[in-house]
Amino acid sequence: MKNILLYFTGTGNSLAVARYLAAKLPDTEIFSAVEVLRNARFNVDCASFGIVFPVCCQDIPEMVKRLVGNLKLPADAYVYAVATHNGDVGFSHFTLDRILKKNGRRLHAGFAVLMPGNSITTGNSTNSDQETDRRVKAAEACVSEIALRILSRETPPYCGSASLRKHLKGMRNMFRHRILYRVPNRFWTTDQCNLCGLCARICPENNITVSDAVRWGKRCQMCLACIHWCPNRAIQNGKGTMNQKRYHHPDIRIEDLMHRE
Ligand SMILES: Cc1cc2nc3c(=O)[nH]c(=O)nc-3n(C[C@H](O)[C@H](O)[C@H](O)COP(=O)(O)O)c2cc1C
Ligand code: SF4
Ligand code: SF4
Repeated sequence: MKNILLYFTGTGNSLAVARYLAAKLPDTEIFSAVEVLRNARFNVDCASFGIVFPVCCQDIPEMVKRLVGNLKLPADAYVYAVATHNGDVGFSHFTLDRILKKNGRRLHAGFAVLMPGNSITTGNSTNSDQETDRRVKAAEACVSEIALRILSRETPPYCGSASLRKHLKGMRNMFRHRILYRVPNRFWTTDQCNLCGLCARICPENNITVSDAVRWGKRCQMCLACIHWCPNRAIQNGKGTMNQKRYHHPDIRIEDLMHRE
């Protein structure tokens, strides 16, 4: 039976990790979580099931919650997750396990890979070029180790913690993103925007429309794909992102993220 690996990504880190991992695991097929959700392909027949996602405010992205809540996995499938993060995995794996439990499944293993950060909308910056390079290179070795542990069906303690401190940190981060820095309500475009429409095509939530101007709706996942991938660096959040570097994983191309024509 096949092994299935899903990914959700904004700036490509989680897709790159999914690709490294699939290359190390036999008979493993990769799918975009967005496509699976959109096509409601929730019955997954597989020997092992994995999901790679970016940590968002100490937790898993809301779309990943929605997807996992609907999945129907075989009772004997080995289930694992890989969180890509910028230093703090938080309680993400504990959330996944809680959701899986509702459908009578468990998360057998919750791994983590340190990757370059991308959270520029709250005044944080991306990593230096040197640190970005170091993390990207180190990730491949880290994934090789994870692959070995998956192949031996290990069930180690989850990376991260579900402590009260992590929950409070997650709430504080969410407050900063949604209320203080008002993502995506404060997104706007400079006159560098040529209305090419790429941001709308890569948005996982179909939350962007491009006609005479670029407009954002309310269903934002805060993945920051639009802001980082705009080829003209035209998208800003307030004024705070004007001088911030943009980032995407060096092995991933914008074509890899196209969700619609
Ligand atoms: C809104 C937002 C919140 C984030 N929260 C966290 C966090 O709580 N802990 C952490 O380590 N990284 C956090 N990050 C960083 C991403 O998880 C990390 O850069 C990830 O590898 C991005 O993956 P992607 O390129 O697949 O989107 C956050 C990023 C964003 C945009
Ligand atoms: S990707 Fe950038 S340039 Fe293209 S429509 Fe969106 S904001 Fe404008
Ligand atoms: S609007 Fe931008 S940040 Fe929000 S989900 Fe779409 S691509 Fe991601």
